[in-house]
Amino acid sequence: LRVLAVASEMSPLVKTGGLADVVGALPSALAHEGVETRTLIPAYPEVLDALGDGETVLSYDDLFGGPAWVHEGSFDGAIVYALVAPHLYAREGGPYADENGVDYPDNAFRFAALAWAGAEIAQGAIPGFAPDALHAHDWQAALAPAYLHYSGGPRPATIVTIHNIAFQGQYAKELLRALRLPPESFVMDGVEYYGAIGFLKAGLQLCDRITTVSPSYALEIETPEFGMGLDGLLRARADVVSGILNGVDQDVWNPATDKRIPATYDVTKLKTRAKNRAALQKRFQLEPDAEAFLLGVVSRLSWQKGHDMLLANLPSLMTRHVQLALIGAGDKHLEEGFLAAQEAYPGRVSVRIGYSEDLAHLIQAGADAFLAPSRFEPCGLTQLYALRYGAVPIVSRVGGLKDTIIDANEMAAQAGVATGVQFSPPTAEALAGALRQAEHFFKDKETWRKLQINGMKTDVSWRHPAQRYAALYREAVAARG
Ligand code: ADP
Ligand code: GLC
Repeated sequence: LRVLAVASEMSPLVKTGGLADVVGALPSALAHEGVETRTLIPAYPEVLDALGDGETVLSYDDLFGGPAWVHEGSFDGAIVYALVAPHLYAREGGPYADENGVDYPDNAFRFAALAWAGAEIAQGAIPGFAPDALHAHDWQAALAPAYLHYSGGPRPATIVTIHNIAFQGQYAKELLRALRLPPESFVMDGVEYYGAIGFLKAGLQLCDRITTVSPSYALEIETPEFGMGLDGLLRARADVVSGILNGVDQDVWNPATDKRIPATYDVTKLKTRAKNRAALQKRFQLEPDAEAFLLGVVSRLSWQKGHDMLLANLPSLMTRHVQLALIGAGDKHLEEGFLAAQEAYPGRVSVRIGYSEDLAHLIQAGADAFLAPSRFEPCGLTQLYALRYGAVPIVSRVGGLKDTIIDANEMAAQAGVATGVQFSPPTAEALAGALRQAEHFFKDKETWRKLQINGMKTDVSWRHPAQRYAALYREAVAARG
């Protein structure tokens, strides 16, 4: 089976979050299931640098305002198609916004172009590659099924995966023609969304199968509370919606082989982990304290992730034997809040504003507990990395956090299967309770070790998820006949 994946990020070529990790890991995981995946991504400057030389396999005189071509490269054994369109992607800032965090004004065209090329490749525009399915990730790729639908030509099966329904890509209806969408597409059963053009809406409406990244989130987004306006559509299409959990790329996130951490370890050498804990304290200028309950955070700082609830809990935590190491970036008021806390509690709260893979690995390898108090979480990867690395996750009971962490309630503890602490609802008060409970467990070394070991033994590989995607592709292809 051959699949064309279309996405706006792919680790390690370009990454702003978990989407990249997933798109980067899927091709090799799927190869084990007999699925050949080629991935189309925009050729941002860093992508072209990383791919190096390659062949041009498709070209356009004018793709939404300028010439464009598809550069075939390969990464980690899989073929990557980079869509080169200097007028759209050759920019200094990030994938979506400029250096000041302001969204590019032409994002509609930047990602329509990606979807357009994806749709054409899906219909065989690149000689020698005839995909059986097109897999579009998130709103940036979601117009591809719409273009295929309105092309009238033969098309492969189409799948849209929702990584985060909070981002939908909505643009003024006046752009319809310029986006190469036919007039008849501007209807409720097409691309129209609350009087505008909805990229994600269009994809969800016009694709064959919809997936999201955890079973719980699949149910949540069918409710008004989590659906962000798309719950009605998702309820109407519930028979084609499913949830497939993300996995962990074990080549990148494996404490036994990780080159980014000072001391490698595994479940049989948990004692070695203390070296990373000490290194983390040193690197973050925290007091070298073997007994403190050291909390770790690696996260975008946004309302979704709930770290304002952690800030609210800090004064109380600081009356106890607790430390915090955090790396994150995002909302200015949250960044400032954490920097102020670092000033107020030197040696006990340490914050790095920014993005660093090295520090992300060090926190996972050194923190006692890992905190993810999200208000909603489609899947979440950091709590999975925490499981792998023996940092006990403390998480809110939503979406993928609910599905991946086994709460240390009385029965789970008795059965010896718990891997972390969950709390609900996602409020500062409930988080306070979970933190007290975790601290209590932490003081009992045996209980804590058991939580760590259970987590480290959990299978969070891509094997099961890849099997489920492969089965879904086959069903979707068979259903098209
Ligand atoms: P989301 O995609 O919603 O941000 P995920 O948990 O799925 O959440 O994925 C986040 C990914 O981004 C993980 O690989 C995590 O390690 C990484 N990450 C987030 N913030 C940072 C940061 N400040 N520095 C390094 N890595 C980060
Ligand atoms: C999104 C979600 C996150 C998920 C990631 C990869 O960024 O916020 O929960 O893990 O996509 O699917």
